[in-house]
Amino acid sequence: MELKRLAVPAVTALLVLTTGCTGATVQGRPGASGLRDPFFPRAGNGGYQVEHYALDLAYDPADGRLRGTAVITARAEQGLSSFNLDFSGLKVEGVDVQGARARYNRTGSELTVRPARDLKKGEVFRTTVDYAGRPKPVVDPDGSEEGWITTGDAAVGVGEPVGSMGWFPGNHHPSDKATYDVTVTVPDGYEAVSNGELRSRRAVGEGRTEFAWHSPEPMAGYLATVAVGKFKVSTGRTPSGVAVYNAVAPGEAAGSAAALARLPEIVEWGSARFGPYPFGSAGSIVMPAQTLGYALETQTKPVYSGAPDEELVLHEVAHQWFGNSVSPASWKDMWLNEGFATYAEWLWSEDRGGVSAQRRFEAFLAGDTGVDRGAGEDWGAFPPAAPPDAAHISDAPVYYRGAMVLHRIRQEVGDGAFFALLRGWAADHRHGNASTADFTAYAQRLTGHDLKKVWDVWLYGAGRPKG
Ligand code: TRP
Ligand code: ZN
Repeated sequence: MELKRLAVPAVTALLVLTTGCTGATVQGRPGASGLRDPFFPRAGNGGYQVEHYALDLAYDPADGRLRGTAVITARAEQGLSSFNLDFSGLKVEGVDVQGARARYNRTGSELTVRPARDLKKGEVFRTTVDYAGRPKPVVDPDGSEEGWITTGDAAVGVGEPVGSMGWFPGNHHPSDKATYDVTVTVPDGYEAVSNGELRSRRAVGEGRTEFAWHSPEPMAGYLATVAVGKFKVSTGRTPSGVAVYNAVAPGEAAGSAAALARLPEIVEWGSARFGPYPFGSAGSIVMPAQTLGYALETQTKPVYSGAPDEELVLHEVAHQWFGNSVSPASWKDMWLNEGFATYAEWLWSEDRGGVSAQRRFEAFLAGDTGVDRGAGEDWGAFPPAAPPDAAHISDAPVYYRGAMVLHRIRQEVGDGAFFALLRGWAADHRHGNASTADFTAYAQRLTGHDLKKVWDVWLYGAGRPKG
């Protein structure tokens, strides 16, 4: 499903035609203020797609102030008289489009930009937003915090689901993926870490160091991160040559060592199970304990709140295939992220001679979740492909019943077809977006099995399935 298409009202063909004949300037119309996501209707914006974000940030842990310049290169999908960016908090100091001063105004988390001249359909245009202030957390509907989070002198920007707008302006919906360059200047003695690969690290004078990070693969905004702290950094490579960059809060170094030591092996295992690792590097950002109430699979370098265990590292690395490379078409499709990452935990355990996925499936069915991290949570409360509302997209059914959906498919089609399905799904939608309907259609086509009952009972059915 392409949400963007739904969001564009069918109007101005006539306008374009008439102005085309007279040679007058092309008439644009405002881009939509949201992409009509079923759970976050205002997330993202219509009328354009971003190709690249160049974020130039300066952060000072001493006063918590962030100064940013976001240069957003996008392609207009319609004639545009104005368009929106998602941005909340922080002061906007100026907006340029194609080098010309643009007018703008703000309502809630919508920043509306009116360029000096209309943009033509198909035009690639550059928007520069200068901003500054003390960024704050964004509280999401389930009460968890994203956005910009600080602990002591460390800080981290995280986005899932709608926190990215708290630290940079953008088209913040997972359906609009773009490449990124993130440059961060911090006081000497601090490390600044972001997604992708470190291009340069240099002293820029006045006691500051600049870190330039580059992400050549497309990334959904909610997977972007920046972390600033006095991290211990270690680098290495996986056996097949994927670069690894771990940044760890000093107090968490000892506790993280064992799990992070397994990262190369986990990346290799994932590549064998799911197909080639989708990114140019892997790594971790370990924040002080209690920085966040969760870990997040930020692209190439998941963020952990305190020392992770091996299973959590496995989960976040599995998201690099499922969630990050193959991203959800909407926030209703979260089980495509969490069900898959959870099932990856089950497979990792099984492949290493631990508890089998079948045994875990049976234990969940019998109401004994003691074998899992989801111990005590109600996995059956709602169908994973239809969470009741935005406050439940990260609840137990999305994770555990989502994993059980995959196991039910495996029971139906057998191991050969099932593992081909996992690899095929990752390959087919690599660096793209996919919906639940895309998955069910793909699974049936690839395996040649009629899986309607699995979808009806496990994916969409009300009530707790019995088997
Ligand atoms: N996606 C994360 C994971 O499973 C968890 C997560 C991130 C989360 N942000 C959240 C859970 C906000 C609840 C609320 O690895
Ligand atoms: Zn997850």
